[in-house]
Amino acid sequence: MKKITTVVELRQLVTDWKLAGRRIAFVPTMGNLHQGHLSLVSKAKERADKVIVSIFVNPLQFDDNADLSAYPRTIETDIQQLISVECDAVFMPTAEIMYPEGMDGQTVITVPGMEDKLCGQARPGHFDGVATVVAKLFNMVQPDVAVFGEKDYQQLLLVKKMVADLNLPLEIIGLPTYREASGLAMSSRNQYLTEQQRKKASSIYRILNEVKAKLEKGDSDFGALEQNSIKELQQLGFVPDYVDIRQAGNLEPAKTSDKTLRILLAARIGKARLIDNIACNLD
Ligand code: PAF
Repeated sequence: MKKITTVVELRQLVTDWKLAGRRIAFVPTMGNLHQGHLSLVSKAKERADKVIVSIFVNPLQFDDNADLSAYPRTIETDIQQLISVECDAVFMPTAEIMYPEGMDGQTVITVPGMEDKLCGQARPGHFDGVATVVAKLFNMVQPDVAVFGEKDYQQLLLVKKMVADLNLPLEIIGLPTYREASGLAMSSRNQYLTEQQRKKASSIYRILNEVKAKLEKGDSDFGALEQNSIKELQQLGFVPDYVDIRQAGNLEPAKTSDKTLRILLAARIGKARLIDNIACNLD
């Protein structure tokens, strides 16, 4: 596996591969890789001849400096894991390489309709930071296809909209959330949890599925379903940010006539802010 840190080296590699007619898939990450990330790499391998993974803890998308400095960095193990799934290249730029002029003067991409809802509302500036770094990485890697996890569902929609709106020449694939046996969605942030908090965290998936089951039975009092889930989370010791039933395509609040829904949840416990979501199709 090639290990690359500069944009010049990356461009050279990509040019060589493209000249040889290779299709390139890309998986952007912030490192601290787990099975969920590796499943994205495996899908990427199915869809292209060469897979490039980036590892960059992007300061532009952190609204909280403490969260940025605490974010787990495990580069050596990450590299070993990527070798084990036969990734072809890993791009590991520094902040100076990604933002040579600093972050203040950086051109920023805002995808409309995202900052004002769900995680956008809870984390000001976060999605501008995501859109900007993903656009930069796409321009550096020039992939034919990029793979993202559905766990960050709002991020996945944001990337899809940015690609469509800016006519970026690549396909975006979303993959179902990879879960532990308890149902807990895999996340780098799970390691902030104590054993007891981890047990409680498995209730998140259960609560999402309870809401889904009620919707499928015809319950359409979305407000009450959301509020009951919030209460349940509070009783378990969470500080919920939101439990929301939304239209799956654009994350606008769901109307009773909507059939393709997404149930999304964000809640804090201890040092962790956990997010999860599931689909609910009423057709
Ligand atoms: O999902 C993530 O890990 C990050 O938001 C991403 C897409 C790598 C951008 O920094």
